[in-house]
Amino acid sequence: MSNSQTSGPSGGVLIVDFGAQYCQLIARRVRELGVYSRITVPERALFTFEHMRPAAVILSGGPRSVYEHDAPALDPAILHKGVPVLGICYGLQWLAQHTGGLVTPAQSGAEYGRTELAVLDGQDLLAGCRPNGTVWMSHGDKVAKLGPGFTVLAQSEPCPFAVVADRSRGFFGLQFHPEVAHTEDGGLMLKNFVLGVARCRTDWNPGNLVESKIAAVRELVGSTGEVVLGLSGGVDSSVAAVLIHRAIGQRLHCVFVDNGLLRQGEREGVEALFRDHYHMDLEVVDASERFLGELRGVVDPEQKRKIIGRVFVEVFREKAAQKRNAKFLGQGTLYPDVIESVAAHGGATSTIKSHHNVGGLPKDLDLVLVEPLRDLFKDEVRALGRELGLPSALVDRQPFPGPGLAVRCLGEVTREKLTPLRAADRIVREEVEANGLQRGLWQYFAVYVPQKSVGVKGDARVYEDVCVLRLVSSQDAMTADWELLPLPVLKRISSRILNEVKGFARVCLDISSKPPATIEWE
Ligand code: XMP
Repeated sequence: MSNSQTSGPSGGVLIVDFGAQYCQLIARRVRELGVYSRITVPERALFTFEHMRPAAVILSGGPRSVYEHDAPALDPAILHKGVPVLGICYGLQWLAQHTGGLVTPAQSGAEYGRTELAVLDGQDLLAGCRPNGTVWMSHGDKVAKLGPGFTVLAQSEPCPFAVVADRSRGFFGLQFHPEVAHTEDGGLMLKNFVLGVARCRTDWNPGNLVESKIAAVRELVGSTGEVVLGLSGGVDSSVAAVLIHRAIGQRLHCVFVDNGLLRQGEREGVEALFRDHYHMDLEVVDASERFLGELRGVVDPEQKRKIIGRVFVEVFREKAAQKRNAKFLGQGTLYPDVIESVAAHGGATSTIKSHHNVGGLPKDLDLVLVEPLRDLFKDEVRALGRELGLPSALVDRQPFPGPGLAVRCLGEVTREKLTPLRAADRIVREEVEANGLQRGLWQYFAVYVPQKSVGVKGDARVYEDVCVLRLVSSQDAMTADWELLPLPVLKRISSRILNEVKGFARVCLDISSKPPATIEWE
């Protein structure tokens, strides 16, 4: 299912991904300007161009060298489409190479990290930028010679061609990364290109998509089709459910699987909102015995995740089979899950943890997918959720992982450990939210560490486990910083856990950033 703006002249920006770490960031920055953007791989760039008909093209950075024989190849015909092109880092080098310039290993010209940019020509692309701003470089190759028609707009100490342009053809290049926060005026440069040079249409507003999304669901599902959807209570599946429900009402059948690994009040909250408030057809499947049974004796974190993922699919498959009339599967899949990225096409990626999501159901369920959010980033889904009237407590809630409390209950998962963990987690949430502190935090939760230590409760000696508080801030979960709370709040959390929860002799605070630590403990 696609947005109406992805076919026909979009007035948007097509971003060609050469394997950049920051490609999604470029796409988000463009969308924040109110302009539709879409990412594609080099091999499909021309095809996508014809389909989308963008008003501008951005060529991303990438880890390779343009002169390597197997470097990502883009058909140079993209340069003859009559729209402005901005090359970033590798993108600039590719642009230089295909317009008569020369790219070589940088040797003394290699630059990593912050560097000062001296602006020589402050028009169009660099309009309003400070004359000596800081920019973020990360390149081992450099443009050694520019092709005919190009001029230099800015330079840095080791990099004479830091910003270049051939204005007659609308070609621009930046040797540094404008999309990262460390580049001063980077956002302004992107804005100058997208709005000033390319005059892209500023009609992208995810909040306004409600009606077109509803119409698209109706068109796909038809007047009699039925949809089954796995509701987790998280933002994505909730927004997808409400949207699809608006489109087809009682022909949407939601299934909520209680895996026994939920936080306190979670199941009741989902029932209250979706069944009682929205009057949706919601089936709650209590599969906690089955999940906990399968997890018995399992201590390896990856093993735990795999079991939870597998059992979820089994339970969901059984329920979907009972809904015989449902030919469609609703999912809250987001754009980052479907982007045709170089990494997704066999680039260098490694599995740090095998993530499990409700959206990760197997294709052989033999149902047609209904994924109304598949062209949206998370913050855009939140905007859509707000527009749909979903409560802020749901739309802005902290992420909760698919495997639930299992990845916060170290070692074997048992009811004996889940009960105190749940109680401690509720206390952390209550105290953070009662003090309005959740806005500065990405996640805030408790972890059960099965390590006995000695304590004194009342007059008795106890020998109980450890509760760890994990409080982190983050933009996108790729990196995270540990955070403190005001001391009185920390004291209250600690004292409440030690007094109200049976099973913990000690409360500790995790002060590890990501990397090298991850946010979850397993
Ligand atoms: P880590 O622990 O890898 O987590 O730093 C990054 C973010 O992802 C969440 N997370 C998951 N979410 N299924 C999910 O839906 C999973 O299996 C999963 N594992 C981690 C985690 O809560 C954090 O926000």
